[in-house]
Amino acid sequence: MKASSLRLHSWAAALILGLAVLFPSVRGAGPGSIANHKEWRPEKRTTCDLLHPVIEQLTKNLTAIFAKEGINIEVVDSLHNKCEKEATMHACIKAQKLMIKDGVVYVTNLMPVNGFGAVELIGFLVELYEVSQLYKLPDLEFAYWHDDNPPAETNLKPTAEAPTAASWPFPPHKLPPILAWATFPGNGAMVVPYSGAFRCPKDSFDVLMSQMNDMMMEAPWDQREKVGFGRWNVFCAWYYGGTAVTFTDGSPVPCPREYLSNLYKNHTDKMLTAALGHELAGGAKAGSVPLNEQYKYRYIVSTDGWSISSKFDKYLVLGSLILKARGFVYGWYYPAMEEWVHYVPYMVKHKDDIIEMIDWARANDDEAHKIAQAAQTFALRNLNRSARLCYIFRLLSELGKHMKYTTSCDKRKVCVPLVEELKFLATWPGTHRNCKYDEVLSTYGRDDPAALPGDSGYKVLLKRHEDEPHHVWGRR
Ligand SMILES: *[C@@H]1O[C@H](CO)[C@@H](O)[C@H](O)[C@H]1NC(C)=O
Ligand SMILES: *[C@@H]1O[C@H](CO)[C@@H](O)[C@H](O)[C@H]1NC(C)=O
Ligand SMILES: *[C@@H]1O[C@H](CO)[C@@H](O)[C@H](O)[C@H]1NC(C)=O
Repeated sequence: MKASSLRLHSWAAALILGLAVLFPSVRGAGPGSIANHKEWRPEKRTTCDLLHPVIEQLTKNLTAIFAKEGINIEVVDSLHNKCEKEATMHACIKAQKLMIKDGVVYVTNLMPVNGFGAVELIGFLVELYEVSQLYKLPDLEFAYWHDDNPPAETNLKPTAEAPTAASWPFPPHKLPPILAWATFPGNGAMVVPYSGAFRCPKDSFDVLMSQMNDMMMEAPWDQREKVGFGRWNVFCAWYYGGTAVTFTDGSPVPCPREYLSNLYKNHTDKMLTAALGHELAGGAKAGSVPLNEQYKYRYIVSTDGWSISSKFDKYLVLGSLILKARGFVYGWYYPAMEEWVHYVPYMVKHKDDIIEMIDWARANDDEAHKIAQAAQTFALRNLNRSARLCYIFRLLSELGKHMKYTTSCDKRKVCVPLVEELKFLATWPGTHRNCKYDEVLSTYGRDDPAALPGDSGYKVLLKRHEDEPHHVWGRR
């Protein structure tokens, strides 16, 4: 067998192969058979409304970066370069490359199976697939960065002639379109929702949203304990303790996750803030507390982790007042969030100002309650699933305007319809429990014209996930 016949980019060949396997079982079916049945689908949408500040930042950022040079084939090819050097390995294995052609989304690399399965990646793929079923998407190529941090590889070094000049390790060292779930000033990654935390786990944003009524009934505001509660793992963001985040007097902000674990011991009447495993005032070790129990506290203390906190999104739903530490990294909807409207900031004036904020909240209960309600309303209205899908659609639409070439599977070594990759993830033992794939596969996957019949594509895809990354991506 020629090597090229194994390439799924000749997708049609694989389809015919798949049909041949399936065909005998449907041969006997009469006219109007179940196999041919297609549910009605609405026309794909071409517009949707979003919060003004969110769209404004998105458009401004994209225009600043791509308006001059556009998204050209050289830059996108550099996303697909072989990783031969150790120094570039990171850029290869942390990016899921994607292509859109005639409304169909394709993955143009297959992730190595070791370390594969993080919801950071899977959640986005699920959400992107849903977007592609609801909205008309432009032809486009881009990558999704699934590491915790917005990539240092996409730090911009813009000049007047080349606004896309960047730390990207591959020639021409210009920024390809890369999406990430967090970014920071000076970085060119385009920020998208942390879809994994929004929709995959048992305590996802979407699940908490569905439990919101019960939480509010079980613990109305008046019955919540007037204590600032915070529980987190010990990751300290890389930007604390330096010049990136400073107090008003210019001195560096310490890592709140560490600092508050100690500060709390001097103020146990007001706070219960500790990193997991840290010794509590009573001597016990701090264990994890599920989000759907944390709403029993009237004040929730939020700290960023290695990157933005995915829990911050969820705290918004709980109906308690959020105290948020100053940070450096931001998420997709942060431009629309306002201090003292949606949350109360701390680590602003000095290390211990959280105590003053809790004192303020206790003394101004009505105002604190209003801020808590505004946060909840904001989340329900602007972070729900349809709002997220709309955001992703708008981002991809904006990117599409800067495309300078025609996308084609012929240009890529790998070109597998996203629906098949999702079906693979939904079946493979290492990933099949990691997200609620059926929400999209049962709704759109079964009669998706880009899908192979049933599970006929699974084995080929498994083999390719196991084998191909070794030589295609230089992984050792
Ligand atoms: C994107 O917008 C934000 C807010 O206006 C700004 O801080 C950031 O530097 C912009 N990023 C780029 C790459 O233009
Ligand atoms: C807690 O109180 C002790 C004793 O007054 C003091 O030495 C320590 O610095 C305080 N710790 C914090 C984090 O405020
Ligand atoms: C969900 O978000 C959309 C878009 O922002 C909004 O129109 C809709 O009202 C929201 N749904 C709920 C239940 O708030």
